[in-house]
Amino acid sequence: MARPTVLVTRPLPEPATRLLRQHAALTVHGRDTPIPRRRLLKGIREATGLVCMGTDQIDAALLQAAPRLRVVANVAVGYNNIDVAGATGLGIWVTNTPGVLTESTAELAWALLLAVARRIVEADRYVRSGRWKFWQFHHLLGSDVWGKTLGICGLGRIGQAVALRGRGHGMRILYTGRRRQPGPVEAELGAMFVDKATLLREADFVSLHLPLSPETTHYIGERELHQMKPTAFLVNTTRGPVVDEKALVKALRAGWIAGAGLDVFEREPVVTPGLLRLRSVVLTPHIGSATAETRTRMALMAAENCAAVLRGERPMTPVNPDLTPRP
Ligand code: GLV
Repeated sequence: MARPTVLVTRPLPEPATRLLRQHAALTVHGRDTPIPRRRLLKGIREATGLVCMGTDQIDAALLQAAPRLRVVANVAVGYNNIDVAGATGLGIWVTNTPGVLTESTAELAWALLLAVARRIVEADRYVRSGRWKFWQFHHLLGSDVWGKTLGICGLGRIGQAVALRGRGHGMRILYTGRRRQPGPVEAELGAMFVDKATLLREADFVSLHLPLSPETTHYIGERELHQMKPTAFLVNTTRGPVVDEKALVKALRAGWIAGAGLDVFEREPVVTPGLLRLRSVVLTPHIGSATAETRTRMALMAAENCAAVLRGERPMTPVNPDLTPRP
């Protein structure tokens, strides 16, 4: 029988590639740039496995063009880029990379939170500009973090890791979301479940950790930004469309909130121009999981999921666990 083929949409760290090669012939898009759609469509025709990025659109047309495909292994925890219902209908496993990027993403949320609160990026620009001539008592005054209220929207794995760090900063922790967490989780984090309006009204820092879905699209819009304190900051490390970016620009300009730290955007890599002109925001290019260690763990996990399916086994972290695999 011919060796199966796996299509990989970016060059991956060696341990992941090595594992995949033990099970299949690889077609790798050899550059760290988006794979052209035409190459994706061509490669998928023969592929038994696809290892892809969260930025690759794996839609119905692509899945229909893949008669041999058995697994789509996303190198990301989010999977809103994949038509999961379509894949499930065709008997194709879809997998993601939960857990391995939790701490890195929480660290980035905190990096943004501290950066906006303490005006780190502005301060850095000031030093580099040569304008620093003398120390000033009233210059670059930020906001305290210690003792403030942290509001977490979505207390899943990453939300919990962000909350835990909040304890170290002596913060009061509120959370909201679809589900209330069990008592021991709340107790360990010192987190109190409240409704969305209470959280927005009381939090000094609002950090978003809800996965993108039709229900969470524009979860933060004009109404919600109005409910927040004028001294509050918004941090988004989940998915851009969870925030209405136009409304956010309006809110920041009008002083409805004090600032924002954003790692994700509604139309990446396009950023709403108004945001680029505001000093009260810190912007990073979707780097929540971007540490060397975490990216290697993610690639390896996706490769392991893909390899398991090629061996005829169940993948470790399917997002469609009730699948009846295609024969
Ligand atoms: C990154 O955004 C991920 O979903 O892993």
